[in-house]
Amino acid sequence: MKKCLILLMVVLLALSLTGCFGWFQKKDENLIGVAMPTQSLQRWNQDGANMKAKLEEKGYKVDLQYANNDVNTQIQQLENMITKKCKVLVIASIDGSALTEVLRKAAENNIKVIAYDRLIMNSEHVDYYATFDNFQVGVIQGKYIEEKLGLKTNAGPFNIELFAGSPDDNNAYFFNGGAMSILQPYIDEGKLIVPSKQTEFTTIAIHGWDSADAQARMDNLITAHYAGGRKLDAVLSPNDSLAIGIVTSLKNAGYGTADKPFPVITGQDCDKANVIAMINGEQSMSIFKDTRTLAAQVVDMVEAIMKGEEAPVNDTKTYNNGVKYVPSFLCEPVYADVNNYKELLIDSGYYTEADLQQ
Ligand code: BGC
Repeated sequence: MKKCLILLMVVLLALSLTGCFGWFQKKDENLIGVAMPTQSLQRWNQDGANMKAKLEEKGYKVDLQYANNDVNTQIQQLENMITKKCKVLVIASIDGSALTEVLRKAAENNIKVIAYDRLIMNSEHVDYYATFDNFQVGVIQGKYIEEKLGLKTNAGPFNIELFAGSPDDNNAYFFNGGAMSILQPYIDEGKLIVPSKQTEFTTIAIHGWDSADAQARMDNLITAHYAGGRKLDAVLSPNDSLAIGIVTSLKNAGYGTADKPFPVITGQDCDKANVIAMINGEQSMSIFKDTRTLAAQVVDMVEAIMKGEEAPVNDTKTYNNGVKYVPSFLCEPVYADVNNYKELLIDSGYYTEADLQQ
């Protein structure tokens, strides 16, 4: 018996040393690194969980990491993934311009890189980019305001305040560009007025997409420009984390009554708290970017890369990261509001009714 055991151990050792022990080998050969920015926003938790589940379904091992919105933590996590010999890195960056050095290391190790949702800037080592059409996100938000205020037909003027996302996130410029492509002509014509006169991206941007900072800026705007009873008709908010702060500020200032109704407020991500705010008539709309669609697209990209093939893309001319145009796959965003959220979010299985209980 003892002899048998020793013999078995010797055979196992020999197999693993010669690389024939497939199971152990497979572990490394199939490892995919997924680096997400933070767990503090619902969408990234969903993105991470969807990616992991879908990759595991296809037989990959997944190293999923969240970096607490801290750039150095994300760099360290990527370095670990390189050391562990991940074959592909899927990265939703925190600061799109801070990864040049670590991506150089990835390339030296023949690791392919997919930028997830946010473009990674200033590096030739970004192989693919998968995202929702970010300019279109802004266009839909702008058009929603245009429609709800009836800007095409009503004389106005209407008062609006503008917010933008984090300056270190390339997406923020596209969201703003898309929305302003619709709203700017009305501002030029005087049908839309920005009483604060704050329209420059750098002035209206909220670093780190922080809800509390958006709330503080809205507090200041209300105090400085709306204290005398001036009506606020719309607030352009690029996403849900900003919209939550804006709504809180407005509520504290007494908005949400017949005399002082909530303005039209836009958003993005359809986070649960924001869908509830839509049901309550506090937020008007939110762009729905089905994270299942994006994850499925990225899994297709990973599969193609692992087979040594070109990954599927549908855009090669929009996303220049400062060094090159990154081959991209753009998914189509849509919007949810109180009229269609059931069909879009519940019937599609994205949320259950219970998820959206107050
Ligand atoms: C994403 C948005 C998200 C924002 C804040 C952007 O890059 O595209 O969906 O709301 O980051 O996390």
